[in-house]
Amino acid sequence: MLNASDLIAEYEKTGTLEALPIGHFIDGSFTQPAHNGTMESYDPGRGKAFARFTAGTEEDVDEAVRSSKSAFEASWRDVAPVERARILQRASALILDNQDLLAVVETLDSGKPLQEAYGDVRGAARTFEYYAGACDKLQGDSFPLGPDYIGYTIHEPVGVTAHIIPWNFPISTAARGFAPALAAGCTVVAKPAEQTPFTALLLARLLHDAGLPAGVCNVVTGTGTAVGAPLTRHSDIDHITFTGSVQTGRTVMKTAADDVTRVVLELGGKSPVVVLKDCDKEQALNGVLGAIFENAGQICSAGSRLVIERSIHDEFVGELVSRTRALQLGHGLAKPDVGPVNSAEHLAKIEGFLERAKARGANILTGGSVTSDPATGNGWFFEPTIVDAVPVKDELAQEEIFGPVLTIQIADDADDALRIANDCQYGLVAGIYTSDFAKAHQLARKIDAGQIYINEYFAGGIEVPFGGNKKSGFGREKGLEGLLSYCKTKSIAARIA
Ligand code: NAI
Ligand code: MG
Repeated sequence: MLNASDLIAEYEKTGTLEALPIGHFIDGSFTQPAHNGTMESYDPGRGKAFARFTAGTEEDVDEAVRSSKSAFEASWRDVAPVERARILQRASALILDNQDLLAVVETLDSGKPLQEAYGDVRGAARTFEYYAGACDKLQGDSFPLGPDYIGYTIHEPVGVTAHIIPWNFPISTAARGFAPALAAGCTVVAKPAEQTPFTALLLARLLHDAGLPAGVCNVVTGTGTAVGAPLTRHSDIDHITFTGSVQTGRTVMKTAADDVTRVVLELGGKSPVVVLKDCDKEQALNGVLGAIFENAGQICSAGSRLVIERSIHDEFVGELVSRTRALQLGHGLAKPDVGPVNSAEHLAKIEGFLERAKARGANILTGGSVTSDPATGNGWFFEPTIVDAVPVKDELAQEEIFGPVLTIQIADDADDALRIANDCQYGLVAGIYTSDFAKAHQLARKIDAGQIYINEYFAGGIEVPFGGNKKSGFGREKGLEGLLSYCKTKSIAARIA
């Protein structure tokens, strides 16, 4: 197995890694594309290209879908659930065996701190372990139709599933889609983001090494226009799992409508973290910091709005600002507190939000600019930023910035906090910090979001369903509900007398 220090040394010396795959992964091996185009992937920590990968086309999509369809019909849907479980379990072990390679590649591709990349890779292994355990427990129901009838349901796999993956959590999002789809008996055609193509390719090969038959999991790399669009409109795709922006999600949903293809959409967020005066301050400070600065805020479920009770505002925010100023920025491989953002375009978008805020006279307590720290070199870094007392209708309180930018909203009391928390177009997650058990659960019921974290932001794991309300999308991933997204229920009723 390749180890992290050798890989990092190789990268320092050569500016690339030999172990990176090239080509699409189709029908059980890395294949040459229909056309010879390639694209560059950038290391956001250096602002420099470090590898090339294949720029796919519609012909490559057609080949991958053909392969997935025939693998579905010829084998995978009829493989015994226990055998599917064994393959997914082996895949989980192989992911762990290869965690150094996967984590280093994820850091180079996405920019995220190496310790976070390890967390994502181990989470991906855990996802395969969880769904391995679920393969042979997809039980149906039976119905009391009286002595003359039998009635029951079975869960059938939906068929060939498309997975459109974003750049902020490349391996996590791939695993979260592939594992339940495969567990249910579906086959997969995936398109990773063009900024972060590599770990999905490596994952497809590990699945193959774990015993997955050829064609059951195919990966085609390239842009949204050249690969994503033809994949989502392909008539042999039975289900689409999309994670990304609201705008592209809308396009995908419209395309899916033409063929009445099923969709699960996991879109953006502007999630509130409600901090009430009776909270455990240390717990809340740690929670708020992690909620916005992990992965430099590029998390759909980031806690990007702090909704804080007025009576503790000054003290709490004072401490929050001093801890934020102490955060170390740096290249992901150096395991900093905060890494770069994923691309130059994305950095410019974040900067745009803050430039407009400055022009409106916003109260920026710390940060607010692209970094000029020499330690961050030519990488794409934005200073960890906190903006105070932002009005509810301000774009900083309504729009997803997807960067290390925390917006503070001040509430008079818990009711006011609830009103502010819900006054937003998104409804993905919400955090609540309070020591009042009843109040926490009252708020949990009233906040319009797909998941609520009480006294620990990001609490829970693969067992817990995840997905959004309002413009954050619909459908649920993770948990047993995530598995049912890849199933069609069939009910059967028979007269037996
Ligand atoms: P995007 O939604 O355009 O990209 C996500 C994926 O969709 C990528 O794989 C992309 O290639 C693909 N795609 C693009 N156009 C497509 C099309 N017409 N048909 C099918 N697939 C297509 O998001 P982008 O441009 O990378 O980021 C823009 C903003 O979206 C970010 O600033 C952030 O606010 C949000 N975002 C939210 C994410 C989440 O986790 N919910 C993840 C990534 C971005
Ligand atoms: Mg990259």
